[in-house]
Amino acid sequence: MKLLITGGAGFIGANFVHHTLRKHPDREILCLDALTYAGNLETLKGALTADNFKFIKGDIADRETVFSLFESERPDAVVNFAAESHVDRSIDNPDIFLRTNILGTGVLLDACRKYPVRRFHQVSTDEVYGDLPLDRTDLFFTEETPIHTSSPYSASKAAADLLVLAYHRTYKLPVSISRCSNNYGPYHFPEKLIPLMIVNAMADKSLPVYGKGENVRDWLYVEDHCEAIDLILGGGREGEVYNIGGHNERTNLAVVKTILRELGKSESLITYVADRLGHDLRYAIDPKKIGEELGWTPRTGFDEGIKKTVRWYEDNRDWWEGVMSGEYRAYYAKHYGGI
Ligand code: NAD
Ligand code: TYD
Repeated sequence: MKLLITGGAGFIGANFVHHTLRKHPDREILCLDALTYAGNLETLKGALTADNFKFIKGDIADRETVFSLFESERPDAVVNFAAESHVDRSIDNPDIFLRTNILGTGVLLDACRKYPVRRFHQVSTDEVYGDLPLDRTDLFFTEETPIHTSSPYSASKAAADLLVLAYHRTYKLPVSISRCSNNYGPYHFPEKLIPLMIVNAMADKSLPVYGKGENVRDWLYVEDHCEAIDLILGGGREGEVYNIGGHNERTNLAVVKTILRELGKSESLITYVADRLGHDLRYAIDPKKIGEELGWTPRTGFDEGIKKTVRWYEDNRDWWEGVMSGEYRAYYAKHYGGI
């Protein structure tokens, strides 16, 4: 099988590349990635020298690039990870989110119509469901929960999901969608909560917590997400949406305190800063469908996963110092001001 993985130089895409190379050494992997600030070839070190791996630098929203790749390579299946993925950046500048996340997905879908594939899998997010109230811990997102987005990021991902489902209904394209909760683990870009707090704490810098730190996210170790996508590719039903999550809900403050404890650092590093605009209160996934249909269960609990992640950042300083480019430093200074 020849698998096209888009966005494979980013956090989850690269973990999926490594996962697939380990689990399916017979597969040929093509990776298409524009190498934005969030994509880095260092993240693919190891894969780049494999005979069954090929990297192509290119933009999923560039029709010519995508169509000529499909013409020459004829992939059997596509997994689309490529996206602008940071909510805060989408609040500052929605444009690029619309281009990459919506138009880019549309270009890939068109290419799959012209050069038929066995499966187009869209990697989506639980953020398309909006949020749940903090005081209703009995409520969870199911695949039937209405789309109800809050940020330009989640709106762009929801639009892409609707496009994917429309191509299934209209053109009978063999698609599937997964909507996962917040991931964490190796190669996570240090602008997102967990890696940002780890690298700041290691440097004894302030840890910027939005609002009161009461918002709740449902954390999943990235390897468990990769396993779930692999199972959907293998046996997930066409035209279906699968929620992925491991019932690991934590307030942001609890997450930050766990990281500080793990690193032996003081809670005095916590600095409360202005809240995010439109900040979603709580995400919580009901993963019953993927469990019942495909036998998926997460292997890594939060306490174990956070320990592994903290150790990884301690052991891979070169990686995270390397990806924190001038662009990222400028973003950090602008977004967090003087702290
Ligand atoms: P990321 O920002 O770390 O990586 C995105 C990758 O896409 C980068 O390598 C970047 O270079 C590439 N890219 C961006 N624009 C591109 C374009 N126009 N053409 C080609 N490549 C482009 O993101 P991530 O956290 O790995 O997320 C991957 C996917 O998973 C996204 O679709 C995201 O919406 C989804 N998701 C993420 C999470 C999470 O917690 N991080 C949770 C659920 C779903
Ligand atoms: P983030 O990692 O950006 O993921 P998402 O917004 O997609 O869930 O943020 C996770 C939570 O952490 C979210 O509630 C916002 C909060 N947060 C902070 O408190 N401080 C920060 O500096 C960042 C980046 C996030």
